[in-house]
Amino acid sequence: MEQPADDAEWWKHAVVYQVAPRSFHDSNGDGIGDLGGLLERMDHFSWLGVDAVWLCPIYPTPNRDFGYDVSDFCALAPEMGTMEQLDELIARLHERDIRLLLDFVPNHTADDHAWFRASRSSRADPQRDWYVWRDGAANGGAPNNWLSRFGGSAWEWDEGTGQYYYHAFLKEQPDLNWYNPSVRAAMHDVLRFWLRRGVDGFRVDAAAVLAEDDLLRDDPPDPEAEEMPPPGRLKRAYSDDRPETLGYIEEIRAVVDEFPDRVLLAEVDVASGDPGRFYGFDTPRFHLPLNYVLLDCSWEPDALGAEIDAYFASVMSHGWPNWVIGSHDKPRIASKIGYDKVGIAAVLLFTLPGTAILYQGDEIGMPDVEIPRDRVRDPFALRVPGFGLGRDPHRVPMRWSPGPNADFTTGEPWLPMGAIESGSTVAEQAADEMSLLHLFRRLIRFRHSALCPRDSFRPWRNQAGVMLFERHGRAGRHLVAANLSGGRRLLDLKLRGTVAISTRPDREATRLDGPLELKRDEALVLHIESD
Ligand code: GLC
Ligand code: CA
Repeated sequence: MEQPADDAEWWKHAVVYQVAPRSFHDSNGDGIGDLGGLLERMDHFSWLGVDAVWLCPIYPTPNRDFGYDVSDFCALAPEMGTMEQLDELIARLHERDIRLLLDFVPNHTADDHAWFRASRSSRADPQRDWYVWRDGAANGGAPNNWLSRFGGSAWEWDEGTGQYYYHAFLKEQPDLNWYNPSVRAAMHDVLRFWLRRGVDGFRVDAAAVLAEDDLLRDDPPDPEAEEMPPPGRLKRAYSDDRPETLGYIEEIRAVVDEFPDRVLLAEVDVASGDPGRFYGFDTPRFHLPLNYVLLDCSWEPDALGAEIDAYFASVMSHGWPNWVIGSHDKPRIASKIGYDKVGIAAVLLFTLPGTAILYQGDEIGMPDVEIPRDRVRDPFALRVPGFGLGRDPHRVPMRWSPGPNADFTTGEPWLPMGAIESGSTVAEQAADEMSLLHLFRRLIRFRHSALCPRDSFRPWRNQAGVMLFERHGRAGRHLVAANLSGGRRLLDLKLRGTVAISTRPDREATRLDGPLELKRDEALVLHIESD
């Protein structure tokens, strides 16, 4: 028998909406989105029906990596707003039954963080060992061959104290030394600080890279990666995904579990593609190691079906699945598969079993925006040029309504807005029931009213480029059909039912009693009455 999720498991059925606050809404005309802007746009969350909002970092930062370089973990960036505004945001979201998640960046700090300033001040400083300091190699060069993800050596020479420090990302983002129990205790207190303020959980940044091999063994070359951008040409055997990290994750989880009903999402970009161990076995780790299959994989129907199947195989026995269709780090779904197919992505996102995670703008089909050379801000694009790795295109401001700067700001937006087509803003789509935005809203309502998280899932064979699967539970049987073929399809499924949701709204509530016709790029959910 299926049970509705109890409150401690609210996150299983949840729709999580990721906000990049700098690009959400600007309330004071400085061109940078802020907490005031979030407060003004609160109705968007309740209108859409999301259960949780996750904010990218809002802490003080020199913005070398746009907030992922944190100068103080327990304060807010002045351009974001005040603690009073954050408290108000939490309270007003909670009134609407919406939870708030923050980004937690455990792996590194900004180089102007007080801890790092102390640590680099002298070898004798009590906080010296809070970061990863090493002598150079015998030949005087860097301690080993490890590479920064953002280009070049992962080691930076410090003239003042005559040693190198390690940085998995920018040299302005020195790695904390997670082997050090004082570092772990300090970071646990950061979590408690926000949890006591009423935050409902975190998305843990770069969670697999907390520890590096203590022997500093060289990473081996990756023969399959010769064509890759330079930072990807070594296998991160010793600098990523070390067993020690899993123990540190268990400690983080234990801290979060001191508070009821909280949740941990995590970025675990692992080479093997199997997130299983990040859930934990006897001792819990993350509730939701984020799953990027829908964003990373080919949308050829058999390939996509196989990836979904492999993901379930690795997760279902001991973890709860999740699906992500957008992120501040990855090309937009609308640019990957084309605007006309975003509706299919939405149908899959909200009907596949698991937690659903979308990124601001996905609900209006925002595309990647080409950034003129002189407006590029992302350090990844600037330091590893020529591979199309820049993340600015998917970080441009949200498009609220037609008019100057799409009503994001009255000032000069920090990134260009791009060309905005008519009908593509939130206001226009909200006024048009045939829009993508309305499809997202209907799907979220349908998910909450007619699907139960524990409804069983049964894949069917793909037919003629149409992906098919069934959900079965309290509210009966539903067939999901996603036409990925690129053409019109007629399927003889030999069943009768009613269309519950379709990417073509005029078809909803119509009966099916005969072959199923799917228009190009159509996806639908059919309530099965008999077969
Ligand atoms: C994560 C973030 C990314 C950031 C990096 C370094 O991958 O999502 O935006 O640049 O960590 O903190
Ligand atoms: Ca602002």
